[in-house]
Amino acid sequence: MLKLKNLSVSIENKKILKDIDFEFKKGKIYAVMGPNGSGKSTLAYAIMGHPAYKLVTRNSQLITQISFKNEDITDLEANERAEKGIFLSFQSPLALSGVTVYQLLQLAMNGKKDPLTIRREAQKYAKELGISEELLNRPLNEGASGGERKKMEVLQAAVLDKKFLIFDEVDTGVDVDALKKIAGFLKKHQENRTYVLITHYNRILHHLQPDYVLIMMDGKIVKVGDASLAKKIEEKGYSAY
Ligand SMILES: Nc1ncnc2c1ncn2[C@@H]1O[C@H](COP(=O)(O)OP(=O)(O)O)[C@@H](O)[C@H]1O
Ligand SMILES: [Mg+2]
Repeated sequence: MLKLKNLSVSIENKKILKDIDFEFKKGKIYAVMGPNGSGKSTLAYAIMGHPAYKLVTRNSQLITQISFKNEDITDLEANERAEKGIFLSFQSPLALSGVTVYQLLQLAMNGKKDPLTIRREAQKYAKELGISEELLNRPLNEGASGGERKKMEVLQAAVLDKKFLIFDEVDTGVDVDALKKIAGFLKKHQENRTYVLITHYNRILHHLQPDYVLIMMDGKIVKVGDASLAKKIEEKGYSAY
């Protein structure tokens, strides 16, 4: 579904991601693990098309190719990639003063769903996620806890019907109950969607079994395994890699 060919990314002329080749398949759950600074967030931003993360060139030619549903998206901007169905949930979602999630969703849908449908869907998903009516009507994330912010991100992805969802540090700052709700929601709506869960811990993986676990070290994917790999990491750490 999403294919990375030779993904090489530099920030301020420092090479961060090094020739990553990987294909994420439709309908699968991926966990991306790795020590701090190994490039997990950079991978997420590069897939999303964040302008600060420059693809490396050789003799002024791009060496990277990113394709999504068999379409080359290497040259697309972040908003165009979002339009195609790619979604990145940030490590710490920001608050927006004066804008409700309804308004934001209407803006993002750009007329593709009418306001009433958006409202109805948002309310339905909010119920499933345990988001209160009051939080839903507040300016986005104002005074919201870490768990509430993550839930609001998941809700937006659902209303926008995104197909390839990346969650950076999905379980950071999220309490046990919120995590369970989020994991349950993702599981329920998994059909035809790909999830990439960047995480330091096994916590979320207890609720949402990954099909594949990727270990990142120093800007590369050094190991791909099944769910048992996450368990091994929890017990033994990354020193073996
Ligand atoms: N904006 C930036 N400017 C300079 N270096 C950066 C920037 N963002 C990330 N890096 C560097 O890139 C490497 C990978 O970072 P990151 O992708 O955030 O790692 P992770 O998410 O795995 O902890 C680190 O060495 C980090 O210092
Ligand atoms: Mg990170």
